[in-house]
Amino acid sequence: MTQIQSETIPFPQDRTCPYEPPAGYPRAGRDRGPVSRVRLYDGRTVWLVTGHAEARALLADPRLSSDRSHPAFPLFAARLAAVQQRRVELLGVDDPEHNAQRRKLIPSFTLRRTAALRPRIEQIVTGLLDAMVAQGPPAELVGAFALPVPSMVICELLGVPYEDHDFFEDRSRRLLRGPEPADVVAARDDLDAYFRELIDRKRRRPGPGEGLLDELIAGQLESGAMDGEELVRLAEILLVAGHETTANMIALGTYTLLRHPDQLARFTQGDGAGVPAAVEELLRFLSIADGLSRLAVEDIEVGGVTIRAGEGVLLSTAVINRDASVFPEPDALDLGRGGRNHVAFGFGIHQCLGQNLARAELEIALPALFRRLPGLRLAVAPEEVRVKPGDTVQGLLELPVTW
Ligand code: HEM
Repeated sequence: MTQIQSETIPFPQDRTCPYEPPAGYPRAGRDRGPVSRVRLYDGRTVWLVTGHAEARALLADPRLSSDRSHPAFPLFAARLAAVQQRRVELLGVDDPEHNAQRRKLIPSFTLRRTAALRPRIEQIVTGLLDAMVAQGPPAELVGAFALPVPSMVICELLGVPYEDHDFFEDRSRRLLRGPEPADVVAARDDLDAYFRELIDRKRRRPGPGEGLLDELIAGQLESGAMDGEELVRLAEILLVAGHETTANMIALGTYTLLRHPDQLARFTQGDGAGVPAAVEELLRFLSIADGLSRLAVEDIEVGGVTIRAGEGVLLSTAVINRDASVFPEPDALDLGRGGRNHVAFGFGIHQCLGQNLARAELEIALPALFRRLPGLRLAVAPEEVRVKPGDTVQGLLELPVTW
């Protein structure tokens, strides 16, 4: 036991290179097996899955629960314990309830619905690039472009007024990154109050409104199929997941392309036919939603180990997406690699609901940025760009650029 303790590595860890998994993480097939032990902030040891086949098997296995309110659910930081008892819709709900909830939302996130949003996403991207050009270099790309693109898009999709973006971007940041437990609780309470008020206002307004929230009010809330607090929590997860993730992909994707000039040349040349494959490779390579969490509710044999009921299971998408048995030369960024068998959007019942939307945003925003600002480059030394801590969605705190 003592030996295991001394060998277990801490999880999560911060990235040193923004686009590489932390050097201290075990790599399946290299130094450890596909499932090994890691140590959480509170000293507890849990399982870490790093093999691709094992990850897919486990993410499709109903013996793993996503219910965060269970006292044994593995958490990444003390601050998250402060909101553990609060129900997280979708992401924190198991089947069959999860399935019933997800079915109410799927129509809004189909390929067809997302394709219909493309012209509007293009307008948003062009408008933000126009403003950057008018302002002139240098710029801070997270605030000027990477964050407002998905923020504006999710506002339109949900029917949330974008004028409130300073408020909800700040609270989303605190909800995800704290730093103190009190910040997380206050951020959650503020977002609750905001959505209660917004939903109330929408209900009182005569005539149909535009947006997913209005549809859910008319289709689910008024009929009693969903209660008001469920809608509040659902709105929150959609808003937070809708902008805090894609924003990181835009900023980190830009940084990564700037650091790989050969791949950037490939990305910007041609008729754009290669863009979807390039975005897929960036999703794999960057794996910004690293460290998916589950709790075993029954014993499970996997990868030569037995996970016991009550034990925590974490899945490092960043390491899983570098599994050499699935991705040859996994540490090379190869925009022509193709294929969607990465787990950057997860796998199984909780696989990202917004993935079509995220792909559309990335396929539009990244090429437009490099087309409009062909001289784009970092305004600071690459190692000065600061990364987000390892216990949250991965990305850059700021990205100073010039052109
Ligand atoms: C590139 C950007 C994105 C990445 C990398 C990403 C990644 C992920 C991952 C890995 C999961 C699964 C989590 C788990 O199994 O524990 C997930 C779930 C989810 N994502 Fe995304 N996401 C992105 C963008 C979006 C967007 C734009 C939305 C828009 C609403 C969204 C909404 C959701 C929701 C609602 C879930 C929960 C689905 C469920 O539990 O059924 N995501 N995402």
